[in-house]
Amino acid sequence: MSFEADARLAVEALDRFLADSLAGAAPALNQRPLAALAEELEVARLVAEGGLTGPRLGAWLTRYLASATRLHHPGYLAHQVAAVEPAGAVGALVDALTNNPMAIYEMGPGAAAIEFVLVNWMLGKVGWTPQPLPPDRAAPGACGAGVLTHGGSLANLTALAAARSKADPAAWRDGVKGDLVLVAPAAAHYSVARAAGILGLGERNLLEAPCDADGRIVPRELAALLDRLAGEGKKVMAVVAASCSTAVGLYDPLRPIAEACRARGIWLHVDGAHGASALLSPALRGRLDGVELADSVVWDGHKLLRTPGLCAAVLVRDHRTLDGAFHQEASYLFHAKDEPGFDFMPRAVECTKAGLGLKLFTVLAARGEGALAEYVASRTALAEAAAARLAREPGVEVACAPESNIVCFRLPGSDARQLELRRRLLLDGRHYLSSTAFRGRRWLRLAIMSPATGLGDIEALLVTLRALAAEVA
Ligand SMILES: Cc1ncc(COP(=O)(O)O)c(C=O)c1O
Repeated sequence: MSFEADARLAVEALDRFLADSLAGAAPALNQRPLAALAEELEVARLVAEGGLTGPRLGAWLTRYLASATRLHHPGYLAHQVAAVEPAGAVGALVDALTNNPMAIYEMGPGAAAIEFVLVNWMLGKVGWTPQPLPPDRAAPGACGAGVLTHGGSLANLTALAAARSKADPAAWRDGVKGDLVLVAPAAAHYSVARAAGILGLGERNLLEAPCDADGRIVPRELAALLDRLAGEGKKVMAVVAASCSTAVGLYDPLRPIAEACRARGIWLHVDGAHGASALLSPALRGRLDGVELADSVVWDGHKLLRTPGLCAAVLVRDHRTLDGAFHQEASYLFHAKDEPGFDFMPRAVECTKAGLGLKLFTVLAARGEGALAEYVASRTALAEAAAARLAREPGVEVACAPESNIVCFRLPGSDARQLELRRRLLLDGRHYLSSTAFRGRRWLRLAIMSPATGLGDIEALLVTLRALAAEVA
């Protein structure tokens, strides 16, 4: 058994997989029944007997990759998960083997140094003051801070834990009081509601922000709600705004929302898990106008930054809020020591935390931030062109003008018909779409993630959809 030989086999197989995917030479997805697939992959037998190395590994990988969903495929238009820049996969491999849990500096100095500088890079994009280098937790003057987490859901939880600590410092020891509430649009990602549950607020204390028909927060009505809540003796722990929403990719108007929050001393959390990558593009940055007035921002690398999962950033304007979010004793980790670096552990839910920054770094270092900015801008421009093309197709209705790389549309007929069309598209395998509820109806949903997708693929999708529509009443 040789690591080098096996890794070479894996890289060769992945190289073919990538080339076939980008060329659309195999289906975008190939969903086989679980039991048959587990059998074909010999999962139980290999667990019991071992031996999956050398030529056997090569043959097995071919079977495994035949079942893998191809995110680089031009017909992959489903969920907002990165079509990975191959350099990021190299970073992931290095992280996998070194397995440096860098949340304490001594367990991964290189990964920690990379994360520190990447957090500063992201703080700069938001418009916040970076952390001092060399690191100094007690530096005079406020600066931003951040940490990379295993996913946007955990990032939202971390940011909201910091908000809770600020709004009610006693909650950590005494538990939350009944007056604490969180305000978020109904369209907020479900991880926000989960965070409210985990933080002990209770579902009843997660209040809907007033929104327009497209699900965007209406700042004037939000201000009135915040005043009403204050009058009722409620303490608003945070307002959550979407940059952009998961379902249809629309951005909440951050500046007036932030002004309403600031005037009342209320924490504004911006969930930019998907859409904060627009900050890289001069043409798109305006979609997050006012973001620098927020208190916390979440920004995922494993969505529009082409980084392997998982790699999400929690960023705060004032480092003291994140450094004060958690209070734990762990004598084997937290103790006085000569510290040449920086421990991220006090800022993170995770104890063992992978070198997430290495994956994002290898993408950025290979391509440069300009290439990522172009990628985000090109996927957004294609979404706009796709929406315009779809709107010209007889009978097709487009949900709203896209503001990101997401387009929602529907064909004539019931919600059930949209779902049946999607089911048949997935069986066909050349195009893989998601679907969502919006304005009370079900829509087909495109999230344009692959760098290989072009307008011709939208035309091809329409050809397939027309044929399927003729079969589905
Ligand atoms: C706006 C938003 N926030 C948070 C998340 C959750 O991120 P993750 O899937 O990395 O946990 C998503 C996922 O799609 C999202 O769209």
